[in-house]
Amino acid sequence: MIDLAVKIDNLQLKNPVMTASGTFGYGLEFDDFLDVSQLGGIVVKATTSKHREGNRYPRLAETNMGMLNSVGLQNKGVDYFVKETYPKLTKYNTNVIVNVSDSTIEGYVEVAEKINELERIPGIELNISCPNVKEGGMAFGTSSQMAASVVKAVRKAYKKTLIVKLSPNVTNITEIAKAVEDAGADSVSLINTLLGMAIDAEKRRPVLSTVTGGLSGPAVKPIALRMVYQVSKAVKIPVIGLGGISSATDAIEFILAGATAIQVGTANFIDPAVTIKIINGIADYLQRHQIENITNLIGALEI
Ligand code: SIN
Repeated sequence: MIDLAVKIDNLQLKNPVMTASGTFGYGLEFDDFLDVSQLGGIVVKATTSKHREGNRYPRLAETNMGMLNSVGLQNKGVDYFVKETYPKLTKYNTNVIVNVSDSTIEGYVEVAEKINELERIPGIELNISCPNVKEGGMAFGTSSQMAASVVKAVRKAYKKTLIVKLSPNVTNITEIAKAVEDAGADSVSLINTLLGMAIDAEKRRPVLSTVTGGLSGPAVKPIALRMVYQVSKAVKIPVIGLGGISSATDAIEFILAGATAIQVGTANFIDPAVTIKIINGIADYLQRHQIENITNLIGALEI
């Protein structure tokens, strides 16, 4: 018997495969393609204290082996989420995690307090790494002090599992990871997108309305893998790895590098059922290598 179960703080995951925020809607949009309850968890779209329209179009651009986005945290705000969206998510038999963002510390705390009251949401992912907003977002995640301040404030208000999503747009990601661990994070997820840009040479204009955007997809995988490896050596809390994962082999690589669980992002746009294939592929790998328990593979890279 193969055991795929892993634990992130108090979260029991039936397998290590989660979906990344902003790439899987609220899960509901994917009900026609897969049984969402088979996943280890889903991280639903970023939620802020107030309704946000997001950035002007165009805000998506395809790149070689990747995608740029500058959505700008479009969402209907936490009160709408609590009243309208949350009741629809209680049907899922998996960990539904809410990605929480805002432009001020007070805003982050307000969202976290409201989500804390929702019985069927066992954790939040604090987004201090969105590169597409003028205020907040990545500004919190690129300084150890700012990151620690927001995590400390949210920690006081939020009693369940607190995952902090880190930005790769820093010189030393282990410093930020250690700062948020010391401030009370139960886990870190990494990486969010890398700041990039695309130009339309014929028009001599940037492709995105915001000029720059966040790069994701297979193009960023080696960077994500390196950062997961470094961070998992630097902190004691569990690491959730993401960045360009599109196959079971990719997922295994992140687990060997030290990730306890993984998130699948951009690949959901290409194959909406890719996560189920990844779960099955991980089970096959364990069987082939005669490993009974996935936890024996976490950080098992031989150097
Ligand atoms: C966005 O809404 O701009 C993307 C979210 C993120 O990068 O965290």
